[in-house]
Amino acid sequence: MSATVDHGLAAPKIKGALRQRPPRGILRARAILYGILALVLVTVGLLLVVSVLFRVKGGVDLLVEIWPAYIVAALAYIAPRGYRDRKLWAFGLSLVIGFVLVVGAVVMSYLALVPGAMGGTAAGSAAPGASGAAASGAAASGAAATGAVATAAPAGSAAAASPLASGATGAATTASGTIDGNLAFGLITLALLFLAFGVPLLWGLIRERSFFLAAETRHPIKTAQEIEAETGGFAEITPVSASGSGDTAPALGLPSPVAIATGAVDPLVSVRGLKKHFPILGGILRRRVGTIYAVDGVDFDVYPGEVFSVVGESGCGKTTLGRTLLQLTPPTDGHVVFDGYELADVDPDDMRPLRRRMQIIFQDPFGSLNPRMPVSDIIGEGLLAQGVTNRKERDKRTGDALEVVGLRRDYSRRYPHEFSGGQRQRIGVARALALSPDFIVCDEPVSALDVSIQSQVLNLLLDLKRDFNLTYLFISHNLSVVEYFSDRIAVMYLGKIVEIGTVDELYRNPRHPYTVALLSAIPIADPRRRRSRLVLKGDVPSPAAPPSGCRFHTRCWLRERLGNPEICATEDPALRPMTGDAHHRAACHFAEQISESAVAETVETQDVVETAAAVE
Ligand SMILES: Nc1ncnc2c1ncn2[C@@H]1O[C@H](COP(=O)(O)OP(=O)(O)O)[C@@H](O)[C@H]1O
Ligand code: SF4
Ligand SMILES: [Mg+2]
Repeated sequence: MSATVDHGLAAPKIKGALRQRPPRGILRARAILYGILALVLVTVGLLLVVSVLFRVKGGVDLLVEIWPAYIVAALAYIAPRGYRDRKLWAFGLSLVIGFVLVVGAVVMSYLALVPGAMGGTAAGSAAPGASGAAASGAAASGAAATGAVATAAPAGSAAAASPLASGATGAATTASGTIDGNLAFGLITLALLFLAFGVPLLWGLIRERSFFLAAETRHPIKTAQEIEAETGGFAEITPVSASGSGDTAPALGLPSPVAIATGAVDPLVSVRGLKKHFPILGGILRRRVGTIYAVDGVDFDVYPGEVFSVVGESGCGKTTLGRTLLQLTPPTDGHVVFDGYELADVDPDDMRPLRRRMQIIFQDPFGSLNPRMPVSDIIGEGLLAQGVTNRKERDKRTGDALEVVGLRRDYSRRYPHEFSGGQRQRIGVARALALSPDFIVCDEPVSALDVSIQSQVLNLLLDLKRDFNLTYLFISHNLSVVEYFSDRIAVMYLGKIVEIGTVDELYRNPRHPYTVALLSAIPIADPRRRRSRLVLKGDVPSPAAPPSGCRFHTRCWLRERLGNPEICATEDPALRPMTGDAHHRAACHFAEQISESAVAETVETQDVVETAAAVE
């Protein structure tokens, strides 16, 4: 982890590293081995059914004859388990299976294509040498029944010994040792099947061998079990009767600047240089023709117990930031450290205990719940993914979670369409809460709700925060919503944070022209007072072509007021600390030039017609 000191943030403390996500070759090898296992099982199953149902004589003999297939199936089951613990034997075992498949394919091709190669078996002697290898090879693949049957014929020494074989395929060798067309076709098919499995398996393993051999020494490596043990595992969800008691004042979670500076409190989440770029694909070949810079280098810390809000106009990258932070979509660049563990490229198996602790509540309570699932399954899905396989245990947790969010336990049998918008959002909250998280990304959780319901859901979230000691990253497009419960606010514009600070500081003393404009758009409840509204010119530029230098320069009222200084269009301003408050940072070359009189004068001179185009 590189220190990112240019934004005044210390390098996050790392407790331990998690194991890396297996590279593609290893994942492919795993899939191939499971494929082999499935084929063996299907083949054996089919043989069993055919021999029992049709009372085929010799059918059971055939099942015995393909015994090597059972060994390979067992190995194909065991080896992928070893991958999880990075065991070298798993790598070795898979290599052996790959070699057996490839060698088997070569031998079968030889038998099928070279006249006289099957001479030994034609004479009726016990299956020696090459034909024996073919039999075991065929069996090893567990390939299609016809293939297994075809090769079983020579191994069984005489067609008569295996009527199924001879009957099904008509396979026979002539006295001169050449084989007939059916058998040759069967062998070649089987050889191709062997190659289709064996070659990608070997290729993938050889390419990714460094994954098994690499020593990961930077930090102590921790497994999912170790992390689970460290955090005490799944906590019970205790229904909190105090919920809705009226006491909704959030506990302030932001540590003092001194505590932060001295490292007395560690952040729960640290984000450094986080980027998420989406490709724009075009043309018939779907080639990359551009890039959307949705999140483009974001740095911040979230402290335990804090409500950290991210605010900005629609399309500025808030949702993408939340999703990338949680690794629901892989970042293009940058680091996210959660409770001392870096999250990028972590093995999904090892990510499980951390994933449980980081949840998300989605913006759209209608789209985010599967309409075909009852509530019990919607909430139970996450529990199942976390290894709660016991149905009763899942139902209990689901009921607890529903109760905690103010819904009845028996609602778990209902479907999403039976609920109102507010209730659905409560289900969304229950889904997150059922996993006993520490950190929840609330992505505009109330913006799709009726105004009358909004405050109920907000109050619920604040109650839960207090009762369960949660930390929130709260996303909103509206500065007025987040004012009364946030500890700190980050203002985003076109994929970057332009200002960050405590609520008091940001509302009282905004240091970025964009924040000033957003604040001026908040209506004041008192009809006798009018806030002077600052109107931004034009639309938000496309994140596919962000303006050079300061991204806000095309709409900046301060720049215009200062006579359009060149530096705004050429140099990207750093998010630098403001004097007077250690938490306050702004990304503007001229942040110190903002004053109430400057704002008032700008409002007076702005075009009246533009005033109608509100800044939302
Ligand atoms: N999966 C995606 N593929 C391509 N572009 C995306 C994707 N998700 C978001 N974007 C783009 O990224 C930008 C930021 O989107 P988003 O994070 O949803 O903004 P916000 O939540 O602030 O409204 C938008 O221009 C959006 O079109
Ligand atoms: S750097 Fe220039 S363009 Fe950017 S916000 Fe400051 S004054 Fe405006
Ligand atoms: Mg959004």
